[in-house]
Amino acid sequence: MDATREVRQRAMVGWYDPRVLMQSAYQVAIANIFGRHSDTRLIEALASQPQAEFDYSSMEAAPDGDFWLDYVADTGDGWNSTYAIADALAHPVLELDHHGTKETLKPGKVLVFGGDEVYPYPTRNEYDSRTEGPYRHAFAGRAHPDVFAIPGNHDWYDSLVAFSRTFCRPERGFAGCRTQQSRSYFALKLPHDWWLAAIDLQLGADLDEPQVQYFKSVAARMDPAARLILCVPEPRWILEDAYPRHSSYDEQSSTAYLEEQVFKRKAQVFLTGDLHFYKRHENAAGIQKITSGGGGAFLHPTHAPKTQELRNGFKQRAAYPDEKTSLMLSWRNFLFPFINPKAGWLYAFLYTMSAWLASSRLEAADVIDLPTALAAAINAGIRDPLNGMWLFMIIAGFIFFTDTHVRSWRFFGGAMHAAMHLTAAFFVGWWALLLTDQVLDMTYGSTVQLVLSGVITLVLGAIVGCFILGIYLFVSVALLGRHSNEAFSSLRIQDFKEWVRIRIDARGVLTIWAIAIDRVPRKWKPAQRHGQATFDADDKRATAPRLIDRVEVR
Ligand SMILES: [Fe+2]
Repeated sequence: MDATREVRQRAMVGWYDPRVLMQSAYQVAIANIFGRHSDTRLIEALASQPQAEFDYSSMEAAPDGDFWLDYVADTGDGWNSTYAIADALAHPVLELDHHGTKETLKPGKVLVFGGDEVYPYPTRNEYDSRTEGPYRHAFAGRAHPDVFAIPGNHDWYDSLVAFSRTFCRPERGFAGCRTQQSRSYFALKLPHDWWLAAIDLQLGADLDEPQVQYFKSVAARMDPAARLILCVPEPRWILEDAYPRHSSYDEQSSTAYLEEQVFKRKAQVFLTGDLHFYKRHENAAGIQKITSGGGGAFLHPTHAPKTQELRNGFKQRAAYPDEKTSLMLSWRNFLFPFINPKAGWLYAFLYTMSAWLASSRLEAADVIDLPTALAAAINAGIRDPLNGMWLFMIIAGFIFFTDTHVRSWRFFGGAMHAAMHLTAAFFVGWWALLLTDQVLDMTYGSTVQLVLSGVITLVLGAIVGCFILGIYLFVSVALLGRHSNEAFSSLRIQDFKEWVRIRIDARGVLTIWAIAIDRVPRKWKPAQRHGQATFDADDKRATAPRLIDRVEVR
């Protein structure tokens, strides 16, 4: 049987699918409870053999003296986006235009995954079908790089079990590539005294002691003149600006500690993913802080929050997609019910329950008069403890959902959002009662009338609730610069993908290219490459990889 037929070409994750929401909430809760109290990094460090740095400093493998490395983060969402990037980075040669001149780029001898290797939560099957499967077919019949990976928050949701199985078992390999690490962090010795250190910060926690000891022993073997590339799981330089009161986004607590106390030098280049776009920040000393999370996951906005100037003199030098495009994409939230139809179940339940409880004290004579019906609904909420508890839970839920770093805004915004839905639920329920009682002339309170009213509320609640959420998300991300995650995960945008390619040349100059695919293919056809099963793009509207940024570090 043709191996390509066994491949599941997965769709983008539906983040507002109630099943995904419930599973994610469960996984996050468990990970936060157990992850923080029984640190897998410590168990890994005890159970595995000591790990040294991995040496790629010899130039023997590259006759022209160039060493190539690929960095890709936030992979393993839909097939189209993940495979498009995997296929492009595995291509034997890329000819890219740089201000009118062609540059020839070669695939990395090493491929570094920068975190969030799978979505929505890590299981053996999800890693296999969303990440390893696409990469196996992309590398089929082509050169295989050595693979290294650090976990992001999504990899940690099962306390690193599936991540360790996928990347930290050298005898197993990944997608036919060699893996060597036995821990969730590593260091690479690269040519010309460049070093790459990749750290694991668990779920926003700090560095564990064995990890600190590992990097201290690596640092002891570094030449005083050695230069450092530091891979971190999240761009705290952006997050600490956006959420100044959030203590776990404090960059001083982890990376600055590593620079000052462990490596005793400043990193020249920082690489991270976590936010699904490309941004490069630079300071006057030429230090680069690169966020490159475009390996497959849904797009994040580049216009919100504003990141033109960060703390400590870092300025934005590149952003992809540009802010105008990002802002335009926000408007798609008006299509929320069509992009996220399964979210309708959530609002159908919420609206029907609210309308049911609100109408519990409504008599036949009250239905026709809006002020009386409204007074009866409010009265029910105040006098009936069950009704009051329901309202409290709804309002608390929306307050919890609100994205802001100011507590008073969280309460105000959450309460307003809840009030919009509860008001809409009242009107939907009231209108359903009016329709069945007055227009269809059913007997008020009869089983048939109540069931039909319930069904109407269920259907309308799903549509109206989704529209209100879409409007709320649009206003938040387009006007207030908030909910960048929720207002773009809702759009499930598989396009605007990118990754970073690095070359250390014979003179020791480090060149960084950011390569993007504006529109990924929607269709693929099975193909053979050197006798191995793979897929080729079969979509004329798809765009070729193009250069979006380039910087040299000397
Ligand atoms: Fe991510």
